[in-house]
Amino acid sequence: MSDERRTLTTRQGHPVADNQNTRSIGARGPATMENYHFLEKMSHFDRERIPERVVHARGTTTHGFFEATGKVGDDPIAKFTRAKLFQEDGKRTEVAVRFSTVAGGRDSSEAIRDPRGFAVKFYTEDGNWDLVGNNLGVFFIRDAIKFPDFIHSQKPDPVTFERQVPNRVFDFASQSPESMHMFTLVLSPRGVPASYRTMQGFGVNTYKWVNEAGETMLVKYHWLPKQGVQSWTEEDAAKVQGEVLGVHTKELRDAIDAGDHPEWDLHVQLMSDEDHPELDFDPLDDTKVWPENEFPLHHIGRMVLDRNATNFFAENEQIAFGTGVLVDGLDFSDDKMLVGRTFSYSDTQRYRVGPNYLQLPVNQPKGVTNPVATNQRDGQMTYNVDGNQSGANPHINYEPSSRNGLVEAPAGGVPHTPYVAGHVVRQKLARTNDYAQPGERYRTIEAWERDDLVGNLIANLAQCNPDIQERMVGHLTQCDAEFGSRVAQGLGISVPEREMAMAGNDD
Ligand code: HEM
Repeated sequence: MSDERRTLTTRQGHPVADNQNTRSIGARGPATMENYHFLEKMSHFDRERIPERVVHARGTTTHGFFEATGKVGDDPIAKFTRAKLFQEDGKRTEVAVRFSTVAGGRDSSEAIRDPRGFAVKFYTEDGNWDLVGNNLGVFFIRDAIKFPDFIHSQKPDPVTFERQVPNRVFDFASQSPESMHMFTLVLSPRGVPASYRTMQGFGVNTYKWVNEAGETMLVKYHWLPKQGVQSWTEEDAAKVQGEVLGVHTKELRDAIDAGDHPEWDLHVQLMSDEDHPELDFDPLDDTKVWPENEFPLHHIGRMVLDRNATNFFAENEQIAFGTGVLVDGLDFSDDKMLVGRTFSYSDTQRYRVGPNYLQLPVNQPKGVTNPVATNQRDGQMTYNVDGNQSGANPHINYEPSSRNGLVEAPAGGVPHTPYVAGHVVRQKLARTNDYAQPGERYRTIEAWERDDLVGNLIANLAQCNPDIQERMVGHLTQCDAEFGSRVAQGLGISVPEREMAMAGNDD
């Protein structure tokens, strides 16, 4: 073996000649305290951990590119959005993608029944765009104010630390009927993907596209894997879990190292930017899908993942995604979940990673027309003083200034300026319609998938208190009478008469 190994040093660059023995007075000690090498090594070790993500702690990051088609059907995409990354056929944009589970801790099993996170950071010339979605297309709740409670119900019991306790999960679910659609998906075979490479991705929340004239469309994003969609049953997953916890990270990394680069097509659904009273759901409700026969998928690009992270901590633990991270031509809708999420992500990242998390290489914009230049100053771990903080005159950290400080960008395309008026209230959306889509899903999946879904629900609900069982059976009956009665039968309880009478009549 040729000896090209590099010399071990301290972080100050001092070569380390002895990394085995603490400096001490004589071989038997006592140890000395002026030992810089020991103190640096130990105190850095003491600080190795940062708080793990409060959700999606278990994940893996890879890199690749997005390539646009430049079109929506036969139309140039510019008709709908002026976002630069989409405009030309063949235009490539670098991406970093983090796949994750939701509820477990940083070292938890990946072969678990749980939604998967599907977060994509596009390093565009106009700055970063993050599309932070999941693999199932809908979500459990439609109002961000319920998120901390929902997550607490999914997390381990705070006293015994027993994980995913059905009595907690379904206590919350049975009093949140909007969650039936997502639970129908999570408890079906799609609730345990066979690998990260074989799952779909969805933006889930409704966003807007803005064109050059300032006109808008509502938009939903879909990632479809070229590898096909594959899932595991409870038995498949249990077998794997008995042997290895990080199965999906390893599978993805091995495939990429072997040159088998996974690929997804990006499609969008578009809807005119209105309330759509003709629909039986609200387009701003993230517990709903938009029927594909009415709102067809349009192919707008593909994504290839071809490079693994080399420093897991720097690229996976410190990468920071957020729903507020949009570029010109993409905008928010009034989806109340989306608005709440947009506060939460950067708030947690300032705490979890630090106030200068955007200076870290994985989070910095790359290849931008306007290199990052702000008047924000200082804070812990300020790093890139020249690139990130100075205008032509580094003394000037305010704007407006007549002394060569930073200046505002020229006005871009026509801004989107929605007019909003109304009473300030606490109210849910008028068209909740919580049962129609899960009922339809129950009826349209294959017979073995229905059996699997019913079996999984019975196995979970059998561990719940009778009042929780009854409430759940009531909701499932309203989704579909057969669905509810099969679960009731498995639990040895009867379907409450009121729910039986209401079956199929959505609220
Ligand atoms: C109001 C609802 C929600 C809130 C408050 C919320 C909050 C959070 C927080 C605090 C994190 C940790 C971020 C970090 O530490 O870097 C996170 C991660 C994540 N969330 Fe949400 N979330 C919500 C809903 C959703 C929904 C609906 C989806 C899917 C469409 C989703 C997908 C993700 C993903 C994929 C991650 C992991 C990002 C990564 O890989 O770093 N979240 N969320």
